[in-house]
Amino acid sequence: MDVTIRKLSGHCGAEISGLDLNRLIDVGFQALRQALSDHGVVVLRDQDISPEAHIDLAERFGEIVVNRFFTPVREWPRIAEVRTTPDQTRVIGGTWHTDHSYDSAPAKISILVAKELPPHGGDTHFASMTAAAACLSDGLRVTLRELSAWHSDQTFAGSNVVKGFDDNAFRGGSLHPVLIRHPESGAEALYVNGDFTTHFDGWSEAESQPLLDYLYRFATQPIFTCRVQWTPGAVVLWDNRLVQHYATADYPGHSRLMHRITVEGEPLGR
Ligand code: SIN
Repeated sequence: MDVTIRKLSGHCGAEISGLDLNRLIDVGFQALRQALSDHGVVVLRDQDISPEAHIDLAERFGEIVVNRFFTPVREWPRIAEVRTTPDQTRVIGGTWHTDHSYDSAPAKISILVAKELPPHGGDTHFASMTAAAACLSDGLRVTLRELSAWHSDQTFAGSNVVKGFDDNAFRGGSLHPVLIRHPESGAEALYVNGDFTTHFDGWSEAESQPLLDYLYRFATQPIFTCRVQWTPGAVVLWDNRLVQHYATADYPGHSRLMHRITVEGEPLGR
């Protein structure tokens, strides 16, 4: 096995070659897991991964959590469809966010597989929340270490990019520290996002919004990001405790289809 790793930017993302996800041996999986821990986002090209291998890979990280708002792939209900049709102007994940942060044990790993790509565009951006946390002023970091924030799935209500759902899909809010410790590496990361965070615990929404807006702007500065250009057969894994992501809606009139599996994490601590 000859694994090579090429960083995509200063703070997050790496392309890894020398692994075959359809025949992943243990030592290859360990290299992949380490790269994900080191870089937050890992890109593997020319994989043409089968749905079975996609599920197997996810299960090596933990238990699959089926997204209750997305349409499942017909033959593979544990895989979610991330589909854009030519008439859509908004896309799933088209704003900076963290998958499933509204859950009390939020998703750790997401694995996205390219099935059908537009002729141009449709890139996915990632931003390092560990770099953002490290670059905050000492004063703000100390303040944020004391705070927790509520995250809610209610933002899906009225959304036209996810499937129709009944009110039972909504579970209300979950509370997480604003600065979390990564359960495996111990790295400190900012954990608030514009899609799902509603307010700081003990603060009103009006009081919370100015500081949250500042944190969203700060954390998604280009210096903290990398950009993944999709190619046929590509697979991208990311750790939702280390990065946020953003799907670019710049291909009107074209379709894009991705398959996503999300792996359940554990409750987050500081
Ligand atoms: C997502 O938010 O999980 C989708 C990202 C993408 O489609 O690029």
